[in-house]
Amino acid sequence: MLIAEFAARLRDSRALVFFTGAGISTESGVPDFRSPGGVWTKYQPVLFQDFLAGEAARVQHWQLKKATYELFKTVKPNVGHYAICEFEQRGQLLGLITQNIDGLHKIAGTSEAKLVELHGTDRLVTCLTCAKAYQPADIYEKWHEGLAIPTCDVCGGFLKSANVSFGQSMPVEAMQRAQLWSEQADIFVVVGSSLQVQPAASFPVIAKRSGALLAIVNRDPTPLDDLADFVHNGAIGDFFSRLRGCRSTVK
Ligand code: APR
Repeated sequence: MLIAEFAARLRDSRALVFFTGAGISTESGVPDFRSPGGVWTKYQPVLFQDFLAGEAARVQHWQLKKATYELFKTVKPNVGHYAICEFEQRGQLLGLITQNIDGLHKIAGTSEAKLVELHGTDRLVTCLTCAKAYQPADIYEKWHEGLAIPTCDVCGGFLKSANVSFGQSMPVEAMQRAQLWSEQADIFVVVGSSLQVQPAASFPVIAKRSGALLAIVNRDPTPLDDLADFVHNGAIGDFFSRLRGCRSTVK
């Protein structure tokens, strides 16, 4: 399927679902995880059970999240985030399922009712015992390596970034909404994901099996490319600019 035909199909969609991964934020300066120079080429993931079991893992978590906090102070949404907002403004967006924890979809203007953050967010810190929520600045501006890791000022429990770590249970309500949207989508568009992490990578398959047109926009090949109806391997910003060009020529 050529991009012009895909653009025409998108124009007629009334139940559009986007599914984004870290690739949509790299053009904002946020590294992805598995590309060269990505987060997992510099840090080891801290497993949730290790975080609970030992101080060393908790310090490792806070070191990564402190570095992330400093980066997130300056990053802004890009063409890709805003393009999805435009589909919402045209009333075409059924929902946006993101694996990302950088909060850039919310900052770009995607409404809460249309957004599922499957892997939580680094834009919040919570107590693992009493669930009290803290603003990141209140924690990270005061913590640095060498200090005791932050604990809850209400119950003394461990504080942790509100992202879903490997081994941590997925948010039930978010999973249910993602499942429903995947079943109801008429077009399901994967943007910037290697589709290697479960259960997130099951939603494009559910959408396809439920009758949606499946599209994948990603620089590198993914395991679901053969299942997709439309695949575009290239930069996301450039793709959405070309899509806009098609829309202006398609009546
Ligand atoms: N344009 C197009 N594609 C891009 C761009 C770009 N500018 N930048 C990166 N990509 C693509 C890469 O080719 C890669 O396949 O985005 C994909 C990002 O893949 P990952 O780094 O694996 O990120 P993601 O798929 O979001 O990872 C899923 O894994 O580590 C966990 O919880 C973490 O949510 C994350 C999950």
